[in-house]
Amino acid sequence: MTNFNDIKGFIFDLDGVIALTSKYHSQAWHQIADDLGVTWTKSLEDGLKGISRMDSLEMILKAGNKENDYTEEEKIKLAAKKNDNYLALIGNMNIDDLLPGIPEFLEDLMAHNYKICLASASKNSPIILKKLNLARYFPDVVDPSKLKKGKPDPEIYIRGAELLNLKPEECIGIEDAAAGIQSINGAGETSIGIGDTQELSAADILFSSTKDITLANIEAAMKVNA
Ligand code: G6P
Ligand code: MG
Repeated sequence: MTNFNDIKGFIFDLDGVIALTSKYHSQAWHQIADDLGVTWTKSLEDGLKGISRMDSLEMILKAGNKENDYTEEEKIKLAAKKNDNYLALIGNMNIDDLLPGIPEFLEDLMAHNYKICLASASKNSPIILKKLNLARYFPDVVDPSKLKKGKPDPEIYIRGAELLNLKPEECIGIEDAAAGIQSINGAGETSIGIGDTQELSAADILFSSTKDITLANIEAAMKVNA
């Protein structure tokens, strides 16, 4: 594994890493799945994490063997409905929706002059950053609408390193989703997974909670794995 001293930048996923919004994405899709008559399962829910809006809809339709039942126009309407559901759910969001330890970690990164960037597939990221008063930490945000491929493709994390003017091996990516870890690893960056050992087994470093993401813990984990 890369040496901790070579790390110059941190590239963050948003939903499920910085904020609890992953829960609202799931609830919003669950409502659509119910409308479509597609059974909502834990594996479908986990598989959707990190996946772009239209790719998520395709996954849900596939899970219900309905991938050929809707026209492009109908799919665009369904995706727009999901976004309406999502926006309604985040309407009352406030700083209590921030995951534990994240503001402290961002402050610490700034204090140590690390570069910081956001690599979320969500087109709603700018609104969320504003609502949570975090925009000042993220001068660099990858624009997901400019990407050719979504996670698990490495493109979004490669673009993140480019925005920071860093080499991939100088960056750490942080994710709560298997698709995101695959994207970080494919980009040649060091991956930190937040969550379940089995789901995120491909992560270079795993923490069970965002509370554990500190520079000291990351340095220790990179030494152990070296
Ligand atoms: C993130 C979330 C996904 C969501 C995707 C697109 O990656 O983890 O659950 O589908 O962003 O979000 P958007 O807000 O653009 O629909
Ligand atoms: Mg996520």
